[in-house]
Amino acid sequence: MSRQMMPEDANPWGYVHGGTIMKMVDEAAGSAAIRHTRRQVSTAAIDYMSFLQPVHVGDLVTIRASVNDVGRTSMEVGVRVEAENMLTGDVKYTSSCYLVMVALDEAGKPCPVPPVIPETPEQHRRMAAAKIRRERRRQLQRELKSAP
Ligand SMILES: CC(C)(COP(=O)(O)OP(=O)(O)OC[C@H]1O[C@@H](n2cnc3c(N)ncnc32)[C@H](O)[C@@H]1OP(=O)(O)O)[C@@H](O)C(=O)NCCC(=O)NCCS
Repeated sequence: MSRQMMPEDANPWGYVHGGTIMKMVDEAAGSAAIRHTRRQVSTAAIDYMSFLQPVHVGDLVTIRASVNDVGRTSMEVGVRVEAENMLTGDVKYTSSCYLVMVALDEAGKPCPVPPVIPETPEQHRRMAAAKIRRERRRQLQRELKSAP
């Protein structure tokens, strides 16, 4: 998903808001999840996200999203954000993050998702890493539930 940044996406000094990028990240991840499941999806969680370099008005922001792994009704979607100065061709890597998207049935309830079938070494690597992050998220949720 690509879009040129406009003045309304930024602060008065021309720096694009983090929220603008996060909305695009959510949309791109949602599209990847919908295309994987051919169902409505909902964002359950967004992992830690940092902004490594500023994005400016006029930059072309490109978001790439891939479904890395699935659980029963949820998927982990990995997202990478780049910003291109279209006048110079300079491309900056600005962020990456992981989202958990849940597939919903016609009643809006979580429903099973089809498996991801990794084919390339890169897809196998992403799936293995996604399984580690999934276990960490579950562990965090268990700890938060048992916290006083
Ligand atoms: C996301 C939502 C549909 C999950 O529904 P639920 O009734 O909690 O369903 P479950 O507890 O069965 O969880 C469904 C799946 O989501 C996962 N999940 C739910 N909350 C999660 C979280 N905070 N972090 C990671 N995974 C989560 C569960 O592990 C489960 O995965 P699995 O089936 O692959 O094992 C529900 O919490 C919801 O509607 N939240 C609001 C979503 C929303 O409005 N998003 C837009 C941003 S505000």
